[in-house]
Amino acid sequence: MFKLLISLLIITFSYADEPIVPIPLNEPVNVEKAKLGKELFFDPALSRDNSTACVNCHNIYNGGADERIVSEGFNGAKGNIQSPTVLNARYNFKQFWNGRASNLLEQANGPLTNPAEHNMDSQKVELRVNSSEKYKKSFQAVYGVSYIKYALVLDAIVEFENALTTPNSKFDRYLRSQEELSKQEKEGYTLFKQYGCITCHNGINVGGNSFQKMGTFIAYNTNKKFPDKAAISNDERDINVFKVPTLRNISLTAPYFHDGSAKTLKEALTAMSKHNLGIKLSDEETAKIIAFLETLTGQRPKILDLF
Ligand code: HEC
Ligand code: HEC
Repeated sequence: MFKLLISLLIITFSYADEPIVPIPLNEPVNVEKAKLGKELFFDPALSRDNSTACVNCHNIYNGGADERIVSEGFNGAKGNIQSPTVLNARYNFKQFWNGRASNLLEQANGPLTNPAEHNMDSQKVELRVNSSEKYKKSFQAVYGVSYIKYALVLDAIVEFENALTTPNSKFDRYLRSQEELSKQEKEGYTLFKQYGCITCHNGINVGGNSFQKMGTFIAYNTNKKFPDKAAISNDERDINVFKVPTLRNISLTAPYFHDGSAKTLKEALTAMSKHNLGIKLSDEETAKIIAFLETLTGQRPKILDLF
């Protein structure tokens, strides 16, 4: 017991001073609800023309985002912004690029009712799930209900999303003093802090905890309209203001930015350092920071291999 306490103390203090904290190894999740949520996440029957499932635009087997610049949903309709990752989304302080949903529950209603995504409404969703013997049986078993309300559909999806965490990345193991970083990775992390990337990308999600302007130093292209923060506040100071994206699993989620304009991490870093820091990184520095960013790729969520 005493030994355990000491090692816990060592682990805690080893990253106490760091601006990034590791993802917990085990997040408590109701596995039965999450299993149901997983079925719903993969089910095109939740869209009007049976074409679109959440997984179409959020590839949870590889980074959780969409490799297309903009996703396609109902009837091939194109979205208006790049699809962000759903992995570790539970740790974001708000959901959506402009934070218009305050949590995953509020968020999940969005795609289901968005005309360019699932194009449904709560009643249509209820009709679909209640006409399925499979769902009737499993909701009865998990929630003890004979009629499946829309709110329960959302609840199950959210519980699945809660299970979509990617712990134990090389960087988290480094924070826990369980693994060393290479010289290149360590120097990349130092540059990440020295240049100030860390002021916006920090905390458990290495981002996801503040709104910032794309173009703090040098204005970014505003020719095309996107659902940025100004779209909800109507304040022109909020043009190109977005939730800072998480950098966890970032090497798996190209293309980058709200407009999908950066095809590679190198391109993303060039634009970031120019627009948000007013600096030009050398090729060597870029390579080092990328090496550090690659250590943020975590284990694939356990829930994906359970059933
Ligand atoms: C047609 C493509 C598409 C489908 C289908 C889709 N999404 Fe999304 N998702 C997006 C896009 C695009 C955004 C960003 C929209 C925005 O920020 O304005 C997004 C945002 C999100 C976010 C917020 C992540 C963040 O960091 O802000 C979550 C969580 C999410 N979707 C979950 C889901 C779930 C659950 C479903 C199924 C019920 C779903 N999505 C279906 C494209 C899609
Ligand atoms: C002033 C705050 C700020 C600073 C400093 C900053 N970023 Fe960002 N970062 C953002 C915002 C906001 C976005 C989203 C921009 C967009 O999509 O238009 C972003 C996006 C990114 C992306 C793309 C993420 C994705 O999923 O599309 C990467 C990679 C990135 N930043 C890395 C860095 C690195 C490396 C540095 C330091 C060289 C840095 N950032 C400095 C705020 C910042």
